[in-house]
Amino acid sequence: MNRFTTGWGAYDLTRFPEDPRDTLRAWDAADEYLLRHLRDEGVRLDGPGGAVVALGDRWGALVTALAAARPVQITDSYLTQCATRANLRRAGVPDGAVTLLSSRDEPPARVGVLLVRVPMSLALLEDQLTRLAPSVHEDTVIVGAGMVSEIHTSTLKLFERVLGPTRTSLAVRKARLILCEPRPATGAATPATPWPRSYVLPGDAGAASGLTVVNHAGIFCADRLDIGTRFFLNHLPKRSGATRIVDLGCGNGVVGTAAALADPGATVTFTDESYQAVASARATFAANAGEAEAGERARFLVADSLSGLEPDSVDLVLNNPPFHSHRATTDTTARRMFADARRALRPGGELWVVGNRHLGYHIRLRRLFGNCELVAGDPKFVILRAVKR
Ligand SMILES: C[S@@+](CC[C@H](N)C(=O)[O-])C[C@H]1O[C@@H](n2cnc3c(N)ncnc32)[C@H](O)[C@@H]1O
Repeated sequence: MNRFTTGWGAYDLTRFPEDPRDTLRAWDAADEYLLRHLRDEGVRLDGPGGAVVALGDRWGALVTALAAARPVQITDSYLTQCATRANLRRAGVPDGAVTLLSSRDEPPARVGVLLVRVPMSLALLEDQLTRLAPSVHEDTVIVGAGMVSEIHTSTLKLFERVLGPTRTSLAVRKARLILCEPRPATGAATPATPWPRSYVLPGDAGAASGLTVVNHAGIFCADRLDIGTRFFLNHLPKRSGATRIVDLGCGNGVVGTAAALADPGATVTFTDESYQAVASARATFAANAGEAEAGERARFLVADSLSGLEPDSVDLVLNNPPFHSHRATTDTTARRMFADARRALRPGGELWVVGNRHLGYHIRLRRLFGNCELVAGDPKFVILRAVKR
């Protein structure tokens, strides 16, 4: 565990899921710079201007340090919320002092201080700032922060277009601040968010050809079908009957929707740690199967991997695992997903995985399940099947 020292106090912070071998800190130089700036500039956190809102606070470092100001955290990540709850508990912050909202929730009506940790996805930032813009007023203090590598001209242009004149600070320990002065209200309507966006899949998407795919901002491959997903869709298992399917790490839900449409007796659980992804999966399923079916034979779950599922309760898990976590390439999440799938599957149940050939998932699966078969492969991707014995 690492100690985060700020002008408000020192806190023991961890990421989520907690791993004692993890040496990565739960905050960075951009969080430190942002908090120092608030103190040095004497920014009032208890002013009459409205709520203190922290957008994109990755592991809860900002809201933990600012807990006395009863801030509101807005995030798209369930993992962020889990980390934040644990960090607040450890810091002795009483329940209810910090409000945790997801990117799908209604933002506070009036914002006095808006703190923005720049997310990886510009689309997510655009959607979030646009949704918050009506709550911002002339006196709102707006400070963004990020590592130099995370802040681009497009980031600054976005702040400028949605909120008002924007400049950056000097870089300190490879972090930079974004200082934005909200435009006075003109009475003109705030531009609406351009999200969600939909597209219809062409004829080369296998079981999903012709389906409408709905994408909320910031989700995996929101503008086009991922080539690995396309390969998966062309080789999905053929099942009939009351198959209990899980689309694990569902993104826009195209895989689970295609599987459900091919097997009318099946029920499907769509699960992802991103609120935007699960909302997209719901919309994709409803666009193709209808609202009634979405209520009857689909479940939509924001969760860490398969933590919400009973052991031995599933017949088939379909998975295109993430191989990035916060900018780093890693198979840590994939490994957890495979182990969770084994636990959730009934004996005889199957896990189907698509992945880049070079990631070597077959070694993991064979070790975990005692078997692993190559279903299909091309020079880039493989589809693997492991059976719970
Ligand atoms: C490679 S994308 C696949 C998306 C979709 N299934 C497809 O094929 O287009 C991986 C997905 O896993 C989700 N994810 C990452 N970590 C997760 C976790 N711990 N629990 C659940 N989902 C997670 C990501 O949000 C992302 O939507």
